[in-house]
Amino acid sequence: MKKITKVLTSLGVAALALTASCSQPNQSTAGENTSKADAAQIVLDNIMTRTSIRQFTSQPIAKDTLDMIVKAGMAAPTAMNKQPWAFVVVTEKEVLDSLGAVHPYSNLKTATAAIIVCGDMEKAATDFAREYWIQDCSAATENILLAAHALGIGAVWCGVYPNPKVMPEVKRVLSLPSWVIPLNIITMGYPEAASQPKDKWVPENVHYQKW
Ligand SMILES: Cc1cc2nc3c(=O)[nH]c(=O)nc-3n(C[C@H](O)[C@H](O)[C@H](O)COP(=O)(O)O)c2cc1C
Repeated sequence: MKKITKVLTSLGVAALALTASCSQPNQSTAGENTSKADAAQIVLDNIMTRTSIRQFTSQPIAKDTLDMIVKAGMAAPTAMNKQPWAFVVVTEKEVLDSLGAVHPYSNLKTATAAIIVCGDMEKAATDFAREYWIQDCSAATENILLAAHALGIGAVWCGVYPNPKVMPEVKRVLSLPSWVIPLNIITMGYPEAASQPKDKWVPENVHYQKW
């Protein structure tokens, strides 16, 4: 609880610093510069320390917390600002178990919640741009993973689309309408143990100006 309060306080500092930087772009003081640097470091630390978590304690996640996490998902960028998504929040054990039964790698055994990020084809763009829903919903997913991590909650992205066997089963379990496609199941809960993030920095993967 102490850790969450600390993180929330830190996020508050980040939000305040960002507000200050937006409203007064040319009037920063030494104090503001320091808090801006602190805020940036908090955000970067959150990105660099996120890692997939697959084992959870039995502590439930409060509805307010889940709503805040979904709100972070909806803050993601989308092509032409279409926001072609829908989010199914599951906390009932029976539904979690049914999802676990149709997705062999969903790690739902000890999970206390799951968010299923879905593409809504009635909101998606047309022609070739329809496929942007995948990127839009992936951006929302990463926001959700980072928000969960900031709040001390463990999570793992479990792919559903484009698996031809798992997709229809997830649709059936959740009673999704025909125009809604489940992209993934984000399995969630409070972490059973601390996990070490992977170091994925490979300088050779970066090309400057041209390949
Ligand atoms: C599209 C996609 C599908 C994934 N599907 C699964 C899955 O079905 N089950 C699982 O345990 N992890 C799944 N993962 C999580 C990856 O295994 C994990 O992100 C990767 O090993 C890197 O580890 P990290 O998240 O700790 O950095 C998936 C991740 C992505 C992006």
